[in-house]
Amino acid sequence: MQKKKIRIGVAGLGRLGITHAENIVFKVKDAELSALCDVDPNNLTMAENHLGVKNCFSSFSKMLDHNELDAIAIVSPSKFHCEQIRQSLEAGFHVFCEKPLGTRLEESLLAKEAVNNHPDKVFMLGFMRRFDASYQYAKQKIDEGEIGQPILFRSYSVDPESSIKSIIPYIPKSAGQFVDMAVHDIDLARWMLKSEPKSIFAIGGCYAHPEFGEYGDGDNVGALMQFKNNAMAFFYAGRTAPHGYNVETEIIGTESTLRIGSVPQKNLVEIIGKDGIRRECSQSFHERFSDAFINEMQEFVDCILENRKPEVSVDDGVESSRIAELATKSFQTNDLIKLI
Ligand code: NAI
Repeated sequence: MQKKKIRIGVAGLGRLGITHAENIVFKVKDAELSALCDVDPNNLTMAENHLGVKNCFSSFSKMLDHNELDAIAIVSPSKFHCEQIRQSLEAGFHVFCEKPLGTRLEESLLAKEAVNNHPDKVFMLGFMRRFDASYQYAKQKIDEGEIGQPILFRSYSVDPESSIKSIIPYIPKSAGQFVDMAVHDIDLARWMLKSEPKSIFAIGGCYAHPEFGEYGDGDNVGALMQFKNNAMAFFYAGRTAPHGYNVETEIIGTESTLRIGSVPQKNLVEIIGKDGIRRECSQSFHERFSDAFINEMQEFVDCILENRKPEVSVDDGVESSRIAELATKSFQTNDLIKLI
């Protein structure tokens, strides 16, 4: 007997939505791309032509009325996530939603309530780094006790300066660097340290692009946190890396240190020439995390088929957004925030 395919509708066909849609068509097993939605007719038509999907909708609620669907993947701008999660669950669908869960804590708590009101539905948040082979290996090493007691967690997320033209119009939609970028690193810290912050102090500024300041943000920001298990943590998020897309993490323990991606290389190739030895850098989240985006969507589909819940829960979404929001507040007020 042929296995049932999970029919997914993707909402938001911008930088990342189109990648999720392509993965569902070409890479994810037991899944079918059954509908597309975007409020921008150009993006919708482009995706429709590229992927040959018949059911295309210019509004989210119209897509929810389409009854030949099992699940919705929300890849719209972050400020719409929580309301679209609630609407999708109430319409009877399983939900995958991109990070961050919400741009404000009150919204995230309403999304959590909606998820908790629908225990029969699978809800998963797109913290794709948890599905990257290197991060998974590092997490396994920590759980096996390889590093001993964690002392310091350090994590960087920096977009390339070469993409700044597309980032600047995105600033007002992003809710700031901590909520938009560092939320990934905050999720990793909570996941790997199995602890929550007890104090937060953030700094930063506009070093190259004053436009960020108009929205109470910086083009490069950092936050120091101490976790309840006493581990120190440092987070750095920026938009001006001259070399490429730089995501790296280090966890220093009493027994050993783990480093993930400490050189943001494109692949294992070294170019040896008259000027020396060179490695090229990855240039985008698509490139660095291409497998992780496929793996996370596969996990979402498998959870639906196997009637189980993903490890990344709505609580992870609420807590990481809460911490990111407090870091933003500390950045804006210059205050040390104590949580206990
Ligand atoms: P984008 O601005 O490139 O695309 C958003 C798309 O959603 C646009 O085509 C827009 O027309 C459409 N849209 C706007 N309002 C809508 C609505 N109400 N319903 C349906 N579609 C709507 O944004 P991007 O970069 O693709 O980001 C989308 C989401 O994905 C964001 O929440 C972002 O945080 C997340 N993201 C996650 C990444 C990761 O590393 N996991 C990387 C990039 C984005």
